[in-house]
Amino acid sequence: MSGSRYQTDRNLALELVRVTEAAAIAASRWTGRGQKNEADGAAVEAMRSAFDTVAIDGTVVIGEGEMDEAPMLYIGEKVGAGGPAMDIAVDPLEGTVLTAKNAPNALTVVALAEQGRFLHAPDIYMEKIAVGAGLPDDVVDIDAPIGRNLRSLAQARKCDISDLTLCTLDRDRHDELIARTREAGARVMLISDGDVAGIIAACMPDSGVHIFAGSGGAPEGVLAAAALRCIGGHMQARLLFEDEAQVKRAQDMATHDPRRRLSLEDLASGDVLFSATGVTTGALLRGVKRSGDHAVTHSIVMRSKSGTVRFIEGHHNFATKTWGGPAAA
Ligand code: FBP
Repeated sequence: MSGSRYQTDRNLALELVRVTEAAAIAASRWTGRGQKNEADGAAVEAMRSAFDTVAIDGTVVIGEGEMDEAPMLYIGEKVGAGGPAMDIAVDPLEGTVLTAKNAPNALTVVALAEQGRFLHAPDIYMEKIAVGAGLPDDVVDIDAPIGRNLRSLAQARKCDISDLTLCTLDRDRHDELIARTREAGARVMLISDGDVAGIIAACMPDSGVHIFAGSGGAPEGVLAAAALRCIGGHMQARLLFEDEAQVKRAQDMATHDPRRRLSLEDLASGDVLFSATGVTTGALLRGVKRSGDHAVTHSIVMRSKSGTVRFIEGHHNFATKTWGGPAAA
């Protein structure tokens, strides 16, 4: 493999999993302790130092915030030990409240692509809709009423609407979406946090979830899109602005009309690598299991180029650790 193609080399996928593992192990010290900021801080610090060993010249494009509001993994920060120029999207702890409550589905997440392949999105809300692979491109439309989307999805899947489950974040802003979904005859799965896992679930066969809809963080939208580029699926999105200042921030970051409808490829294109490690046990991954000097992690690592999806179980011995992870709890 030569030139820019080696940028998404297989080895890089394994290097990436070390990054999400380190963040998950660090965050796991804080599960159930009611301190979401401490959990997030531990994940950020561990992820930041784990990047020092990854052979890339990375630029964070989806990160913890702007330079003046985040000490580490801020948008524009350079990370990596040197190598091919890559853009990086991170969510060092997706589900800070889930971690604080020891509730299911907290993950650490990283995606990587060649420069310019991720949407450069500020940390604002994004409207999202996603369904799995093997369906017509136009099966759902972010601008259509949810009832019509559910009818179209049921027709494409050759099932009844009552066989469909829609996943969304449990928020007041989704009351109308939830009511219309139930009215159409479908079921609703409400998640308290963590729409990256929700979107992935909607696109995984046999997850019991068939469609994700609703609004959540824009960074999470880009990360979920990176995962869908690997596992397959359809996604549409649109940035949601609360004021003109947010429009201006998005305009400064992106080259196109910030209010436009975004396709999966607008969110994440080219060869993409994605890695996530479970912090707490959820539908996709088991959480970190710690005992004495030992921790066991479960991760998913995917490459869009090959479509390979790997589940990796890592056994970590802190007595011999060389990375800057946490001491045993
Ligand atoms: P954090 O881990 O940063 O708290 O994000 C959790 C999350 O549920 C995301 O998965 C989701 O995109 C976003 O928050 C939704 O935001 P809000 O809680 O404001 O509805």
